[in-house]
Amino acid sequence: MSIQTQHERTLLLTGEPVTSLAQYRALGGLEAYEQARRMDPEDVIELLRVAGLRGRGGAGFPTALKWKGLRDAEAARKFVCCNGAEGEPGTFKDRFLLQHNPYQTLEGLAIAAHIIGAEAAFFCVKRIFEPMLPGLPRALAELQAETDVADNIEIVWGPDEYLFGEEKALCSVVEGGLPLPRVLPPYMHGLFAGAYGGPDGNPTDVNNVETLSHVPHIIAQGPGWFRSYGNADTPGTMIFTVLGDVRRPVVRELPLGLTLRSLIDDIAGGVAPDRGVKAVFPGLANAVITPDKLDSVLAFDSMRNAGSALGSGGFIVYDDSVCMVKVAERFVHFLYVESCNQCPPCKLGSRKITRWLEQLLAGDATEHDVEEMKEVATWVTNGGRCYLPTSTSLVTSSILASYPDDFQAHLDGRCQLRHDIVIPKIKDYDERLGFTLDSDYDRKQPDWSYL
Ligand SMILES: Cc1cc2nc3c(=O)[nH]c(=O)nc-3n(C[C@H](O)[C@H](O)[C@H](O)COP(=O)(O)O)c2cc1C
Ligand code: SF4
Repeated sequence: MSIQTQHERTLLLTGEPVTSLAQYRALGGLEAYEQARRMDPEDVIELLRVAGLRGRGGAGFPTALKWKGLRDAEAARKFVCCNGAEGEPGTFKDRFLLQHNPYQTLEGLAIAAHIIGAEAAFFCVKRIFEPMLPGLPRALAELQAETDVADNIEIVWGPDEYLFGEEKALCSVVEGGLPLPRVLPPYMHGLFAGAYGGPDGNPTDVNNVETLSHVPHIIAQGPGWFRSYGNADTPGTMIFTVLGDVRRPVVRELPLGLTLRSLIDDIAGGVAPDRGVKAVFPGLANAVITPDKLDSVLAFDSMRNAGSALGSGGFIVYDDSVCMVKVAERFVHFLYVESCNQCPPCKLGSRKITRWLEQLLAGDATEHDVEEMKEVATWVTNGGRCYLPTSTSLVTSSILASYPDDFQAHLDGRCQLRHDIVIPKIKDYDERLGFTLDSDYDRKQPDWSYL
């Protein structure tokens, strides 16, 4: 890997796009894979532990801990999946990264498979991303033709559903099924282990595209180098997506540890001069971030302390002209539509909340309905196989608690705020032209058909 100067603050999006294996090799590509093969696998895991690499798919789980558990698992068959489903509204970083350099992700995936002792690895991306990622299958074909690094890697083109990115649902898709989360996590019920996980479960590792992309760089340059970026809790960089009511919507890799305010104002141009920030959401999976929390540092612990999350680094910003009842309705409606109906409290609860919010917007709800909404937000998670209804609960409860005046204004029939909210499900991004959102999404029905 090429050594960078400290003021070049990117690790994954450095320099020109990498479009050939020769170019990747000239930058030091594949040296980390060779190095990892020469090392004791335990030492590679220790390197990632010391580096403090945490998953970039949303939860920030320590990668070394995940790999250690999978490596130590006694099982005849193990697998690895790279999660490139990128279904979180307000996020475009994995596609941006794969457009820039798919080789580093493939190398990270090959290293994961080697360290864990996997017999095969699957690179999971949505079929609708195929036209914008011609470099991914090309890079894999090149690696397979010219090296043995990627011989056991296969690309799986999956469906457009939000749940495709959920790791238990992702395993179902790799097996040829629908994106329906199963009961046990992939390290217990992995790929091709039968309906109930088989005798030893075929433990399977699932890691995000960005997480795996960091691995070769950490191996080549060492944990100290990685830790010179970011902060002690969350070392390294993150590829942030910022959009909504900002003047310069953007995808940008930055060292972690800057404040959310700096990301919004300095990187994304801030909100319009006569406006203030009213609400920020790290995707649709977590609680709202209110303006008093804008000085929180962008790292997993501090965002958790602020009552929300770092998530996968995608931030949706709303200014003070926006009605938060409308935002709540759009967000919960999305989670209702995307819920898969395997766990009744999830589908029924999110439908109920969506209906009350629609009634409130139509001037047809009472204070009692708002109280019931609060109550349903406490049980929508019951018996859920996955985290999706926790998102429904967090989004609903946090908006209700933080913006009571917006709810009161609707109960009184006097709301004058903006209602032109669309779900920022990103279809494409161009550095000059900005984001294109999926305008078809509004036609999607709760049974996943399109009107
Ligand atoms: C509803 C739902 C959707 C998700 N979508 C994605 C996704 O698109 N991409 C992703 O990497 N992780 C997604 N996740 C998180 C994955 O389940 C998993 O935690 C992640 O891929 C682990 O990778 P990491 O340890 O490298 O972060 C989703 C989780 C849920 C509950
Ligand atoms: S909790 Fe909801 S989205 Fe998750 S598996 Fe159950 S019904 Fe499907």
